Amino acid sequence: MKIISVVGARPNFMKIAPFCYAIERFNAADGNSWIEHLLVHTGQHYDERMSKTFFDALNIPRPDIDLEIGSGSHAEQVGHTMIAFEKVLQEHRPDWVVVVGDVNATCACSITAKKEGIKVAHIEAGLRSFDLNMPEEINRMVTDRLSDLLLTPDRLSNENLRKEGVPKERIAFVGNIMIDTLEAHREAASKLEIDTIIKTNALDPTISAFQHFSVSAFSLMTMHRPSNVDRHEVLEPIIDFLLDEVCTNMPLIWPIHPRAQKQLQTFGLWEKAMQTPNLFLLHALGYHEMLRLNMDAAIMLTDSGGLQEECCVLGTPCLTLRWNTERPVTLREHGGASVLVGNNVERLRTEFHATLHSERKPQRPELWDGHTAERIVKAIVQYAVNH
Ligand code: UD1
Repeated sequence: MKIISVVGARPNFMKIAPFCYAIERFNAADGNSWIEHLLVHTGQHYDERMSKTFFDALNIPRPDIDLEIGSGSHAEQVGHTMIAFEKVLQEHRPDWVVVVGDVNATCACSITAKKEGIKVAHIEAGLRSFDLNMPEEINRMVTDRLSDLLLTPDRLSNENLRKEGVPKERIAFVGNIMIDTLEAHREAASKLEIDTIIKTNALDPTISAFQHFSVSAFSLMTMHRPSNVDRHEVLEPIIDFLLDEVCTNMPLIWPIHPRAQKQLQTFGLWEKAMQTPNLFLLHALGYHEMLRLNMDAAIMLTDSGGLQEECCVLGTPCLTLRWNTERPVTLREHGGASVLVGNNVERLRTEFHATLHSERKPQRPELWDGHTAERIVKAIVQYAVNH
């Protein structure tokens, strides 16, 4: 059986790593190397910090094929990926294309595969924010509609798919593959020094003046969604709140996404941020470094779906800078660590102060146990045998 799996952007890398190892283990146990596996990188994220460092740190095999699509509008990214991926499929004729998550590469490659008559398996199927303003929601819906095998991370996702009319036999509840990576790298991450992470990744080269960073209480933040960073009138009040209020309570560490950095510069907010004491602006971090900070953060502010999930398992109190989430299992009402605050500063302020001194409450949703990748390989093999 020949499988091509696809990665495109940063949040895909930690999801594909355990899948690659699980195929290797399956082949070793089988003794016949029954699964031939090729890894395609579309190149949606391309630079050292957004891509290469994850392959090194997570020990992901080098991609067999790199499409080098790079940046562009959504239509450009999807269109260029489809054109390039079609050629790959015509040359290699896999039995399956495996896609992960909800980025443009996920959507582009699932459409291309189906049009070539190739079966598609979607890892992280069934998540729904029900918000079609999010490009990721469109990618999820299109990918799930086309997929032959829908591999879900939680039971709420099964329900979403059943309501959309997906037959039971095409849904496999396998758990959350991100947590396979978290569990595999938790120990290595715990050995890193927070001080060193800050000094080696600071955007401000004079940061080495800050000795002995206090690890007892700091906030951690990431933000990159177009809904938060692309409009001046939305971004400025959030930045003012962070700089004028959060940073007066405790140090704030912000590994900044290239999109957010670009927007802060465009809207003239960058200089003030760089000059704010107690704000530690860092380059986008590697996997272990981010995990290390998350393990000790007093509070997380984020609009990332993956971090919401990691906060859930680590128990880090999390303010989610969104009005909705496709991952409700991570919310407090479902036992998780996160609360939706949108991008309204009043709400952010209230929840920040209410959450500031909360206890860590680690929570492990069903099958977020570190063994999801094995179940995925088994589900694909089983499906192939039955159909
Ligand atoms: C993408 C995903 C999003 C995911 C996020 C994680 C889609 C629709 N969005 O959003 O779901 O949460 O990645 O990071 O697929 N850039 C660089 N270096 C890089 C990559 C990007 O500087 O290696 C810059 C680009 O020039 C662009 C910006 O970052 O201006 C955004 O990149 P893009 O791939 O369009 O989407 P993200 O906002 O990263």
